[in-house]
Amino acid sequence: MLKFEHKLRGNVALGINPVGCMQEVVNEIDYVKKKGPYEGAKKVLIVGASSSYGLATRISLAFGAGADTIGVSFEKGPKSERNLGTAGWYNNIAFREEAEKEGLIAKNFVQDAFSYESKQEVINYIKNDFGGKIDLVVYSLASGVRKDPDTGEVYHSSIKAIGEPVVGPTIDMQEQLYYTETLDYATDQEIADTVKVMGGEDWQLWMEALKEADVLADGVLTTNYSYLGTELNHSYYGQATLGAAKADCDEKANNINALLSDINGKAQIVVATAVTTKASAVIPFFPVYCIALYKVMAEQGTHETPIMHQDRIYREMIYGGKPEYDEFNRLRPDNWEIDEDIQAKTKALVQKINAENFKSDMTAYDMLFKEFSVLSGFLVENYVEKDVTLEELKALKY
Ligand code: NAI
Repeated sequence: MLKFEHKLRGNVALGINPVGCMQEVVNEIDYVKKKGPYEGAKKVLIVGASSSYGLATRISLAFGAGADTIGVSFEKGPKSERNLGTAGWYNNIAFREEAEKEGLIAKNFVQDAFSYESKQEVINYIKNDFGGKIDLVVYSLASGVRKDPDTGEVYHSSIKAIGEPVVGPTIDMQEQLYYTETLDYATDQEIADTVKVMGGEDWQLWMEALKEADVLADGVLTTNYSYLGTELNHSYYGQATLGAAKADCDEKANNINALLSDINGKAQIVVATAVTTKASAVIPFFPVYCIALYKVMAEQGTHETPIMHQDRIYREMIYGGKPEYDEFNRLRPDNWEIDEDIQAKTKALVQKINAENFKSDMTAYDMLFKEFSVLSGFLVENYVEKDVTLEELKALKY
């Protein structure tokens, strides 16, 4: 019998529970189904589809709007008893199995989205097998590394400050420790490299390739998830390297809008709320902000997980006729997070949190830890222990 161990290195999960991961996909599907159907896109491509925001988007559109979906992600399958692969691998499988039960197309591409070959393969599939042009392209990729498809040069993103270092408290979930960390500031090269990896260049390349191949429907929409935050996290996010990458996405949205104008298409930056994901757990200081924010928002009944947030975005805002935009035409579902009262209470709580009390009921540490664990298939609701073998896991096809 395989043993699933919830092992961490800092805020990075090393172990996974494949059965738990697959159950969590079913839980998220149930969440959407309980809300009932809605009218939305029917032919959807999601780049970065295997976890958190991208997966939640895919689940909402498939099980809420009845969409056929293509998901592109970069995940690894099982190799040995000690290396069972990544959570997203099993998420892809569970999603496909459940979607196919409903008669929906759910095609998974597991490969490097940054390459031209990937784009071409997806285009060939749309042309030959998907049964229609794309009416929604969701770009939800988060990566620390990107190989430039023209030069072959490999770029790494850095999570760093800009201008001066930032000193503040953070949390290590492995050691269950609250401690002070110093975040160095980035060189100009590191800022440029982060923009290269996490900025909007690849989003634009996808849209150019799809448009050129004539696989986009008239009126196509493309969304890209951004984060702005508030003064509580500007020093290490909004006004730091990641913020520079997000600003680049704003610029690329303008280019894409021009590109799509003759087919009445639209590029939409969606400023999403802070949630617990593989990508956000490794942002220094962010866990402290989250355990305060989640506590305050949970008390108001507005705390959301990725599935709750993405379902609201598509069901109510984008396709439900209740969008809220800012002066730069960005969609603002994060309005609940940045609400003045919520932020004032979050700030006051952050100031009270210390090494002694960070795990107490005063904060949402338990919620953060549970949400983080669920990403790897642990502490999943409705989980039933199952005796699975490596061979059985290897036999699962994405
Ligand atoms: P995540 O780490 O859970 O998911 C990233 C996805 O990208 C996965 O499906 C992964 O397989 C895929 N991916 C990574 N490298 C790839 C490659 N080379 N080729 C193909 N697929 C690749 O990340 P998360 O947090 O869901 O982030 C998605 C987007 O949402 C990011 O742009 C992030 O900045 C944004 N966002 C996240 C927030 C948060 O609090 N987590 C808040 C607001 C925006």
